[in-house]
Amino acid sequence: MKKVLVTGGCGYIGSHTIVDLLDNGYAPISVDNFVNSSSSSLDGVEAITGKKVQNYAIDLCDLEASKQIFEDHPDISGIIHFAALKHVGESVFQPLRYFQNNLNSLFNILACMKAYGVKNLIFSSSCSVYGNANELPVTEATPRQEAESPYARTKQMGEDILQDFSRNNKDINSILLRYFNPAGAHESAKLGEAPSNPATNLVPVITEAAIGKRGALTVFGDDYSTRDGSCVRDYIHVMDIANAHTKALEYLINNNNETNCEIFNLGIGEGVSVLEAIQAFEKVTGEKLPFTIGARREGDVEAIYANLAKATEKLQWTPSRNIDDIMRTAWAWEKARTELNV
Ligand code: NAD
Ligand code: WQD
Repeated sequence: MKKVLVTGGCGYIGSHTIVDLLDNGYAPISVDNFVNSSSSSLDGVEAITGKKVQNYAIDLCDLEASKQIFEDHPDISGIIHFAALKHVGESVFQPLRYFQNNLNSLFNILACMKAYGVKNLIFSSSCSVYGNANELPVTEATPRQEAESPYARTKQMGEDILQDFSRNNKDINSILLRYFNPAGAHESAKLGEAPSNPATNLVPVITEAAIGKRGALTVFGDDYSTRDGSCVRDYIHVMDIANAHTKALEYLINNNNETNCEIFNLGIGEGVSVLEAIQAFEKVTGEKLPFTIGARREGDVEAIYANLAKATEKLQWTPSRNIDDIMRTAWAWEKARTELNV
C-alpha cells in the first residue's frame, strides 16, 4: 500500500480526502496542529472506514519537528498539502500570520521533499487566484488578476513558488488544484465540516441558520447583473474534490504528467446563484430557511465558475454530485454534528 502524507488531514477537505484514499487502497498519514480542527474528524474517518489514521500534531512551520515524520516514514509516495489558514476576512486583519503560516509550511514541505526524496506533491490552490476573472467559465489559462485578499495572495504566491521550484527540481512533480467552492459532507453524516472558527461560507451558514445556531441568513446583494441578481459560484461536493486528489496522485505516480508542474480547475462547471442555492436547500430538506437580502459583501466577485475540461480529460475525473447532493449531505451532517456536539 502506498503511503501518502496528508497535511491538514484533520481539516475539512483533508479528512474527506483521507476517506477517499483509504477507499482506493492508499495508506494515509496526517499532520495537523489543530489550528482549525480537532481529532474528532479522524474519529469520523474511522467510523466510516474502520481504519485508524495516525496524526502528527505538529506545526509545519517547525522544520525540525516536521522532519520527524519523514524519519519515521522513509517510504512516502506523495504529499497532499492542504494545511493552511483559509479565512479570507481574517487574512485582511492578520496578513503577516497568513503569509507566515501558509508560506513557511510550504517551504518546509519542499525542503523535506528534497531532503527525504519524496517525488510527488499535490497543492491546494483556489479559484481566488483568478480574482475578478475577465472571462467565464475560467480555464487554467485565464489570466490571474490582482488578489482580493492576503489569503488569496498566499495562494498565488504558493503557486509561483512551486512553478519556480519545479523549474529547478525536475525530479519532483507537483499538481496545483484550484478548487472552486467545496461544500457538503460525507454521505454517512459521520464526517463533515467542523471548523474551530465560526463558519462564513454559504452552505454551512445556510445549515446553521436553518437549525437555529445563528440568526437568519443575509444574502449579500441581489442587484448584480446575474439571472436573479445574486452572486454566482461553482459549488462542488467535497467527496468529488476528495476523489480528484486521489486521481491526481495516481496521475503523478503513473508518470502521466506532461510537465513537472501542472494546474487543474476543480469545479462542476456550472454556476449556481445564492438564491438558487437557498431554493435547493429548501427543496431537498423540506425546511424553510430564514433569510433577508442585505448589502453586497466587499471583495465578492459577481460570478465565477470553472471550465473543468482539463481535469476531466487528463485526470479522468468527473464530479458526480450537484447542488442538491451538497445540500442534502450538508443538512444530514449539520443535524448529526449538533447531536455529537462537534
Ligand atoms: P481547514 O481549515 O478545514 O483545513 C486545514 C487544516 O490545516 C486545518 O485542520 C488546520 O488545523 C491545519 N493547519 C493549518 N496550518 C497548519 C500548520 N502550520 N501546521 C499543521 N497544520 C496546519 O480548510 P479546508 O477547507 O479543508 O481547506 C484545505 C485547503 O484547501 C487549504 O489550503 C485551503 O486554503 C484550500 N481551499 C479551501 C477552500 C474551501 O472553500 N474550503 C477553497 C479553495 C481552497
Ligand atoms: C459564496 C456566495 C457570497 C455567506 C470563498 C473564498 C475563496 C474559496 C471559496 C478558499 C457569495 C454569498 C455567503 C452569507 C451570502 N476559499 N453569501 N451570505 O466568497 O465564493 O469563496 O470560499 O480558497 O477563496 O473567497 O465563498 O461561501 O463565502 O460565498 O450571501 O452569509 O454566497 O456573497 O456570493 P466565496 P462563500
